[in-house]
Amino acid sequence: MSGLIKARSLSMVPPMAGGGQGLPPLSCLYLVSSFLAMEPTDTVLTYARLCGGGSVTESVQRFIWDRCLREAIGKSHAPYLRNFLKKLISEIELKHGDVLDELYELLTNSLAYSNEANSLNGNVRALKCISFLFPEDFYEHQSCSMTNRLLVSLSCSLNMLEGDTGCSIWPSSLFLAEYILSYPQIFSKKSCFELGSGVGLVGICLAHAKANEVILSDGDLSTLANMKLNLSLNNLNLDDNHEFEYLKSQSSVKCLHLPWESAAETELLALNPDIILGADIIYNPSCLPDLVRVLSTLLHHEKSRSPFEDMSSPKEHPVAYISSVIRNTETFDRFLGLLEAANLAIVDLTPTCQPLSLLPYMQSYNRSTIRFFMLSGKQNGSQASQSSLKLGCIPAN
Ligand SMILES: C[S@@+](CC[C@H](N)C(=O)[O-])C[C@H]1O[C@@H](n2cnc3c(N)ncnc32)[C@H](O)[C@@H]1O
Repeated sequence: MSGLIKARSLSMVPPMAGGGQGLPPLSCLYLVSSFLAMEPTDTVLTYARLCGGGSVTESVQRFIWDRCLREAIGKSHAPYLRNFLKKLISEIELKHGDVLDELYELLTNSLAYSNEANSLNGNVRALKCISFLFPEDFYEHQSCSMTNRLLVSLSCSLNMLEGDTGCSIWPSSLFLAEYILSYPQIFSKKSCFELGSGVGLVGICLAHAKANEVILSDGDLSTLANMKLNLSLNNLNLDDNHEFEYLKSQSSVKCLHLPWESAAETELLALNPDIILGADIIYNPSCLPDLVRVLSTLLHHEKSRSPFEDMSSPKEHPVAYISSVIRNTETFDRFLGLLEAANLAIVDLTPTCQPLSLLPYMQSYNRSTIRFFMLSGKQNGSQASQSSLKLGCIPAN
């Protein structure tokens, strides 16, 4: 299983078994994961009920207190915590159950808590923890303390509609993250460059997949600042050259301020990536010509070899993986037209290359809305498409 991520390389958390005595482990896992990811409180309550066989029993409350709330005090987004506690307590009271004293106490304290700490430049930011849940046999287990859960912490905006789009977690990046973690062998030892990286989730997953080099970029400076915060939250350290080095691995992560409109050809060619990635970047018609110009420069560039590579093997051209929700077909058709004019090939991978479902508890994430494409330069388009397609469809284990 080469290329797979070793469990100890991440912020892994202990398994649920033992955390909630006598409670169903899968429902417990979904309960904690949905709470940490700040899923709608009704979703979290659904899992709480499932844990208790239909109601939020005392042992479920104890489990919630131990595994969700105690950790969240002072860190969690206060209005979310308050709302969850209110709904939890009223659900228990409605069913004439006994509410744990700790829950009442925390609600009283949280009602008195000022919301100021959660405001940054007028925009509400929260810390969401996304748990990627792997199938039982996905990892090589090296000791019984290792688990199949990978936790990624992300500072993000809760308001998608007011500017700041790069500080929200968009479903396309959840999909791309699932793809990278499902097929790490595609990205391992490769140089990867992402356009419009937003919160940095894709880059964090690329580092976990042991990409040789990860370069993230965005055109928005506040998004870039938030992305850097997220890299450090996930143990990707900023070194003296302002590059992040993945602890205990060879991967380095760089963050670039790169508006597509002003990206110079020399700057792009110097990146020399094997793989280009983008999640939810095809939505603004006025940006499309520059986006396609950037893609075309990168994809038509013959990748230069390092001195250690085999000089007799054929030179490779880069490929791009783009995940997208198509909200407006006219905008997407315009993108296709620009690709054609730039001599770029596009293959729809959606029907054939679905990643593992690593976020099964996340009811707010609807994978069926997401399309997944591979782009390449046309001169070797068919060859590149076929080899990558083949790779992408082989399950990691
Ligand atoms: C909808 S968000 C997607 C963010 C992230 N990829 C995700 O899926 O969660 C689009 C991202 O592209 C960036 N972006 C939009 N137009 C851009 C441009 N012209 N140049 C560079 N970045 C741009 C935005 O700042 C934002 O981070």
